[in-house]
Amino acid sequence: MRILITGGTGYIGSHVALNVLSGNHDLFILDNYSNSSKDVLTKLKIISNREFQSAECDIKNKDNLIKVFSDFNPEVVIHFAGFKSVNYSIKVPLSYYSNNVSGTINLLEVMDQYNCNNIIFSSSATVYGAPEYLPCDEKHKIAPINPYGKTKFFLEEILKDWAMSNSQNRSIILRYFNPVGAHKSGMIGELPIGTPNNLFPYIAGVIRNKYDYLSIYGDDYNTKDGTGVRDYIHVEDIAMAHVNSLNLLKTNVKHETINLGTGIGFSVLEILTEFKKILKKPIPFKFKPRRNGDIATLIADNKKAKLMLKWDIKNDLNQICKDTVRWINNYSHGK
Ligand code: NAD
Ligand code: UFG
Repeated sequence: MRILITGGTGYIGSHVALNVLSGNHDLFILDNYSNSSKDVLTKLKIISNREFQSAECDIKNKDNLIKVFSDFNPEVVIHFAGFKSVNYSIKVPLSYYSNNVSGTINLLEVMDQYNCNNIIFSSSATVYGAPEYLPCDEKHKIAPINPYGKTKFFLEEILKDWAMSNSQNRSIILRYFNPVGAHKSGMIGELPIGTPNNLFPYIAGVIRNKYDYLSIYGDDYNTKDGTGVRDYIHVEDIAMAHVNSLNLLKTNVKHETINLGTGIGFSVLEILTEFKKILKKPIPFKFKPRRNGDIATLIADNKKAKLMLKWDIKNDLNQICKDTVRWINNYSHGK
């Protein structure tokens, strides 16, 4: 298949690109490098030993998109390009609506223009808001509590309408829980620009001695040890689910929404214990007050993914932490 990946030099897009390259597909990566580096393209070529096309392209710019589609004529778009910080989305909501929502509408309009009928879209468990029951399945009420989550919800609705508007159109929405870890090569992983908000990138900063300690936001949640519990899923398991989604697009599926999580929750303290086993030393931390908007526990019901995508989790928490440490060590040595 001819596959276009938007945001393909980003954290998840780059891992999916490697999985696409290991299959018999032609790949085109577009990115505007607002949260990633062009170097990733070279790394992808080294790891995969394969060539692919790429372009610097902003999905907000329709002329740029038209150029990509007329050069490559994709059959499927795997769409990652977007902003993803909950905090910034509260500070600059219009920029989130413009980049994520207007950018995606541009993309769909150009897909229509070039008869490209298939899209796989990165959504987020954030659309569930505060869960009313756990594990959270796809039928759970949708109640996003920040502009970022709302962009995902609006886009899910837009993609449903787009799929229904033409008998050929198909869309698969993947709702990620907490993607973490890095590629086994140690050459690609999460590289946030600026101070990280998320747990794993911040821990990475402490391991690299960039920060003195981890702030643990809240020790009084109603969880096993008082710290927040999340469903951390290896980015390679996320990537594999995209490849399996390509197969699902070949069936008579029209529009499906699928959770991607492990079904298992770990607390912040349990994550630190796992890193301690690997590093053979503790990660310093201090308890701080709860973070605004945080919930105690979020865990996926992943039955639908297992059934429809014929997919399962291959990496446990130990593997996630080992791969994270390998990536941090390589990155710190400039590899
Ligand atoms: P990322 O920031 O590493 O990757 C996104 C990529 O899109 C970046 O390379 C960025 O430069 C690019 N981009 C942003 N706006 C663009 C635009 N207008 N035009 C072209 N490129 C643009 O983020 P990620 O973690 O790889 O996430 C990918 C997708 O998955 C995002 O849509 C995100 O919302 C979603 N998601 C991520 C998580 C997570 O925890 N990482 C969880 C749920 C959903
Ligand atoms: N945490 C800390 N210290 C930190 C960072 C996080 O204690 O420095 C805690 C949080 O309080 C939470 C857990 O670690 O209990 C995980 O926090 P993250 O910020 O890593 O992840 P969230 O679950 O809060 O949010 C993530 C993504 C959102 C996405 C959501 C649901 O950042 O974009 O998962 O999938 F919407």
